[in-house]
Amino acid sequence: MIRKDDSPPASLLDLRREFGTRLLSWYNVHRRDLPWRLSCDPYRVWLSEIMLQQTRVAAVIEHYHEFLRRFPSVQKLARAREASVLAAWSGLGYYRRARMLHAAAKVIVREHGGEFPSTAAALRELPGVGRYTAAAIASIAFGESVAVVDGNVERVLQRMSGERLPGESLWEVASDLLDQKRPGDFNQAMMELGATVCTPRAPACLTCPVVEMCATRGELAGSATGVRQRKREINYVLDCQNGRVFLVQRARDASLMAGMWELPEVANRNGVSNPLFTLRHSITVTDYTVRVIQGQPDGAKNGRWISKSRVTNLALTGLARKILRAAGII
Ligand code: ADE
Repeated sequence: MIRKDDSPPASLLDLRREFGTRLLSWYNVHRRDLPWRLSCDPYRVWLSEIMLQQTRVAAVIEHYHEFLRRFPSVQKLARAREASVLAAWSGLGYYRRARMLHAAAKVIVREHGGEFPSTAAALRELPGVGRYTAAAIASIAFGESVAVVDGNVERVLQRMSGERLPGESLWEVASDLLDQKRPGDFNQAMMELGATVCTPRAPACLTCPVVEMCATRGELAGSATGVRQRKREINYVLDCQNGRVFLVQRARDASLMAGMWELPEVANRNGVSNPLFTLRHSITVTDYTVRVIQGQPDGAKNGRWISKSRVTNLALTGLARKILRAAGII
């Protein structure tokens, strides 16, 4: 069992070596073939880490290649217009990440001559790069010995130690265990273990490479209870005429998805008796039932007719994209 006291006991040092050896041997064989693992190019590592914040691996894979095709280097990204960066981000959600990515690209080009800072401390100065992301980039792209703690790593460490380790102790235990020769692989292996074996609800302890060192072996499985989802209904108008569709732009100062395009919302719920179709959409803790009705929006502000061929070039909200796809418009 891993303990975190003020001064680590000698046995922790032995355990650390054994833990790292087993984890990395497992990772060598079982790691998923993810596109950002093909290179240590800091631009690619950075992009993947920002995309992976709050977003599932499968969704990131879909967008990662296309984003790199449009912006193959940090220089190209820095020169792009914000609208095209947001359009390439469309579908990933949490658009603040895309704005920060764009801002950071400009800083890297303007202040660092287009070269990425190579330490976690220097990376943290960039917009949108926090403690986790800085450590991930520094270890994976530059081999710096610095540990990461994300939700997956936290769960692995809590179960291994059998303790509810508070915030800073998690980072300390992760640093104690870090393999100094392969810090980037070690960090990714910890995340991989949490994502594929030491999962929140049904951990696959039988296939875990470090099960013998684990204090709980799945006992804490049920304690990571999910947050209860809220239910909401929302209604949109789809108005499509002469090869064009009517869309509205969200306010520039909106707190969420500012400046992005979506369908006009139905102001009066009484007219929603006969929807064209209904779909479900989840954003963080809210599950929406979305009804789409055919008709003309009443009094939509910031609206415009957009020809169907140009719709995909716009920065659409994820939900607007989903509705337009369901309606066969894109
Ligand atoms: N989550 C975020 N970054 C990751 C990575 N590099 N490997 C596995 N899971 C991750």
